[in-house]
Amino acid sequence: MQKISVRGGKVLKGEVSISGSKNATLPVMTAALLGESPSILKNVPLLNDIKTMAEVLRKLGSKAVMEDHQLKIDPAGFNKFEAPYELVKTMRASIYSLGACLARQGEAKVSLPGGCAIGARPIDLHLKGVEQLGAKVTIEHGFVHAKASKLKGATIYLAGPHGPSLGATVNVLLAATAAEGTTVIESASIEPEVEELVNFLNAMGASIEGVGTSRLVITGKKILKGVEYSVIPDRVEAGTFMVAAAVTRGDVLLKNAKTGHLTSVTEKLRQIGVSVEAEPGGIRVKGNGNYKPADVMILPYPGFPTDMQAQIMALLAIVPGISIVTETIWENRFMHVFEMNRMGADITIDRSHAVVKGVAKLTGAPVMASDLRASAALILAGLVAEGETLVQRIYHLDRGYEKIEEKLSVLGADISRVN
Ligand code: EPU
Repeated sequence: MQKISVRGGKVLKGEVSISGSKNATLPVMTAALLGESPSILKNVPLLNDIKTMAEVLRKLGSKAVMEDHQLKIDPAGFNKFEAPYELVKTMRASIYSLGACLARQGEAKVSLPGGCAIGARPIDLHLKGVEQLGAKVTIEHGFVHAKASKLKGATIYLAGPHGPSLGATVNVLLAATAAEGTTVIESASIEPEVEELVNFLNAMGASIEGVGTSRLVITGKKILKGVEYSVIPDRVEAGTFMVAAAVTRGDVLLKNAKTGHLTSVTEKLRQIGVSVEAEPGGIRVKGNGNYKPADVMILPYPGFPTDMQAQIMALLAIVPGISIVTETIWENRFMHVFEMNRMGADITIDRSHAVVKGVAKLTGAPVMASDLRASAALILAGLVAEGETLVQRIYHLDRGYEKIEEKLSVLGADISRVN
């Protein structure tokens, strides 16, 4: 089992290139199945989740060939409709095959994802969406089986108890491209990854209006063709490096980072006292020794993202005063708190609130990563902790951060992967 070793105390300086977005690439890869010709995706991050999705596409009969950061998807052989448990259990986004298989084959069989380290992760909204388009859905032996002799456009309200659902919006968009007539998605997710999918589908020839808004209008049954497309930069990777610069009081230029996707993170960092400025070609983040505590409310986009909650907490852990972090999306996303406390942090949890009392210093310790973003947060804490932090279970990290230890090392961190 590999681990990440970090010795804290280095000030990060220099430039880092932000990779393509994992959560934008995954839906776009699935959408490429709907074309009548191959698509070429560029700026694809080299991550285990991308490899898993490529495997899902192959299981469905298509070809998916990755060369460096370019991925060619040829949907010519796309004639199967089952996503097996082995793949879905390692990556929930495999559920996107539901929409794609229904659109092209009128049938989909996808293993039920189940819960995970951050929460229950229901798919009721995905199922409600495709049912309203005319699919008959049954659940048997741990699989969702959806069938539709004909998909028909409908008006679908997609908000759940915690706001809109990114994944359900993706599935309904994919299925609606093949539905007869017009589909209206009300309360669609407006996360940039959905906007990216809409742009990709429209580039393929789909007719979707309302890009970037919570009301998407899809005119179905257009002929879709493969396209060449470059994926947007990863806003969560960018946000993670912003905190890395802030927590080490460094000076880092994030090349390719998109300011428009990081407004809430930028605002919060500025409130804490970090300097964040847009520059041609990227965002410069400068830290200092004079930070103030801040309350962070996690909300659907454009609010402060849940995927940055653990990372901002690593910073607040060493900011004098009391900060309160409220998680509203995932009910179990505080597992990193217990590990940070083992490093000397003073954080208590009261239901969906974490009360962070800033401490003068953290000390390195062996810690266990519970999910992707928690892994990154523990590395961030390790960057300022005295001595060595050994982050274990880093297979989570490899799902979503391309060469994070190499990128941090170039910026001056004392970090390495050890066996
Ligand atoms: N929800 C329902 N019913 C559903 C679907 C979702 O109630 O059918 C609820 C969820 O329980 C949650 C909320 O709606 O409370 C939002 O869930 P959403 O469906 O938007 O999440 P997702 O599509 O499963 C994506 C990202 C997550 C990110 C969330 C929120 C991907 C592959 N995953 O998940 O990213 O936290 O949106 O932004 O895009 C990560 O990258 O580390 C990660 C977990």
